[in-house]
Amino acid sequence: MSAATAALLFIVTAVLLLLILLVSSSGPAAAQGYISPHGGFSAASQLCAVCHAMHEAPGNKLLKDMPESALCFTCHNGTGSVYNTQVQMDQDPATYAMHPISVNLANNQGNYTYTSNTTAGIAPPGPYDCSQCHNPHAGDSGASMLLRGSYETAEYVSYVADPDPYNACWACHSTSIVDDSTYFREHRRHIRIQQSSCSACHYSPHGVTHVELIRFNPSYVAPSAVQGSGPAFVDNGDHSGSCTLTCHGVDHGPYNY
Ligand code: HEC
Ligand code: HEC
Ligand code: HEC
Ligand code: HEC
Ligand code: HEC
Repeated sequence: MSAATAALLFIVTAVLLLLILLVSSSGPAAAQGYISPHGGFSAASQLCAVCHAMHEAPGNKLLKDMPESALCFTCHNGTGSVYNTQVQMDQDPATYAMHPISVNLANNQGNYTYTSNTTAGIAPPGPYDCSQCHNPHAGDSGASMLLRGSYETAEYVSYVADPDPYNACWACHSTSIVDDSTYFREHRRHIRIQQSSCSACHYSPHGVTHVELIRFNPSYVAPSAVQGSGPAFVDNGDHSGSCTLTCHGVDHGPYNY
């Protein structure tokens, strides 16, 4: 083989490989690779401009969109991140449980009804911006999920007051939940004794189909073997309900409180 043929062969093979690579990475099963704007900033960073405009910004803090959530939803709507928060929030707050977050969506105009008997200590009054709970700049440091405080979600989390595993929640809710028996009397037993995290029962903090923000964590809460159904929660009025599930090897088939 002459040097010229060898070079040609090399080029043809390289082009073919490149084509294969291109075809395979544009297929539907291709792994998505989004660039996170939440960290990795440098002095020459262009990332700030993803969210901030230097002139004529419509939002306060020079944000490019209003309400703040609209900015987040430019990516967190299934197009720019693996996390689709918009779909969780685009539900009628009259029938879905959700944290009151300022949004302007087709099915959720951001008008919430507050219930006065929800656990103590909620301040300031909502609705909130996403950044009340998340720091959009904290990708390189700080708590997981850009949260402003710790939030452990494992199956077993031992509850100690310092460092408290759920500081992200105590910015608004009272820590008395952990010991209180006036609201949900099973909080104490589950959080302190059984070492459940909030996430076991309140799996999505934004919005869920069930009342009281109850959605059982699918990675460790299973159906009730006794009932052959679940995991399910039924609300029976104020601080009364019923759970059908298996968790920590215990079958609630169902358990009423
Ligand atoms: C993913 C969107 C996003 C990116 C990227 C981003 N910001 Fe922000 N920034 C926000 C939001 C939302 C707020 C308002 C909430 C807050 O203060 O945390 C904000 C607030 C700020 C504030 C006001 C803080 C205060 O306490 O008043 C400054 C200053 C700022 N950003 C600078 C930057 C700089 C510099 C960069 C690039 C290195 C950057 N931001 C990148 C979303 C972003
Ligand atoms: C330019 C697109 C973009 C915008 C705008 C944006 N995000 Fe993100 N966000 C991402 C990407 C990309 C990731 C990384 C995960 C992934 O690969 O999808 C991410 C991750 C996150 C995470 C999870 C953190 C982690 O450790 O993975 C949170 C929480 C978050 N974003 C909140 C916000 C909030 C709040 C706003 C609005 C202030 C916002 N984002 C605006 C693209 C964006
Ligand atoms: C009341 C507090 C709170 C508010 C307000 C809030 N979040 Fe979150 N968010 C959380 C918590 C807690 C987690 C972590 C959940 C977990 O790890 O299981 C989270 C997780 C996320 C994630 C990552 C993965 C996931 O579970 O979806 C994204 C993205 C995100 N939030 C975006 C947003 C956006 C956008 C807004 C505003 C529309 C917002 N959040 C408002 C508490 C909040
Ligand atoms: C920024 C303030 C704020 C933070 C932080 C916060 N919450 Fe809330 N939470 C609220 C408000 C406001 C309500 C609704 C109160 C009402 O309807 O009267 C609420 C309601 C709830 C409810 C009851 C929902 C219902 O339908 O009755 C649960 C459960 C809950 N939050 C769990 C959490 C968890 C878990 C965390 C930590 C990840 C958390 N919250 C962090 C403000 C907050
Ligand atoms: C074992 C499941 C479970 C765990 C774990 C759990 N919760 Fe709850 N939580 C519930 C149920 C069920 C309710 C609804 C009680 C009712 O009113 O019927 C509730 C209600 C609430 C409410 C509203 C209280 C009210 O007055 O109606 C808040 C706020 C709350 N939980 C926060 C938390 C936080 C924060 C954590 C973690 C520190 C946590 N929960 C852990 C099951 C759980």
